[in-house]
Amino acid sequence: MTLKPNNRIFIAPSLLSADFSKLAEEVKAVEKAGADILHLDIMDGLFVPNITFGPLVISSIRPHSNLIFDTHLMIESPERYIKDFANAGADWISIHAEATKHLHRVIWKIKELDKKAGVALNPHTPLDIIKYVLEDLDFVLIMTVNPGFGGQKFIKNCLPKIRELKKIIEEKGLNTLIQVDGGINSETAPEVIKAGARILVAGSAIFGKKDYAKAIEALKPST
Ligand code: DX5
Ligand code: ZN
Repeated sequence: MTLKPNNRIFIAPSLLSADFSKLAEEVKAVEKAGADILHLDIMDGLFVPNITFGPLVISSIRPHSNLIFDTHLMIESPERYIKDFANAGADWISIHAEATKHLHRVIWKIKELDKKAGVALNPHTPLDIIKYVLEDLDFVLIMTVNPGFGGQKFIKNCLPKIRELKKIIEEKGLNTLIQVDGGINSETAPEVIKAGARILVAGSAIFGKKDYAKAIEALKPST
């Protein structure tokens, strides 16, 4: 699937809120329910106060899905593991600007492996940090909670940041997509879409519901 520069909204369920005793089934279920992308949260217990899973789990579920595998690396010095995640089956890889000293170099490490590259920004991190790499990015991930856990409350102060980024992307004539992650549900989804987000990550608002198709539909614009 290619993400064309139109106005379609893409929904990316975050596996973090799935039932880990039956991951392959969960992935197949969200794919069937109309998900576009599978969001994979990688945490190292250092950059964020939680530990999740690594490339081995990704390569295990890869044969069970045709979804885009979007790997959100919440790890210190992510440059150490880009190749491992690419080999495991990641299609998109995002790294945190706060987690590396050489952002430009890591972005290009991802691109040289023919993967889509994104930079994630914590709620307090200004957009300035990506000013000179924006042209190189396929997407920017605006965190709308502090990374580390699912089920947190959406931080409203992130909305002006999404609007500002959207404006910069338009002024520069770029196709860079804005992804949002954290506290996205049927109430916050319209707000982030209005601000300029195109890819909505949602964990608890999808895997926490019984009917995944209904939950995915509830995040999309009604028109
Ligand atoms: C948080 C993760 C998110 C998380 C979102 O650090 O990056 O992807 O799974 O969970 P919800 O949608 O429940 O806030
Ligand atoms: Zn995430």
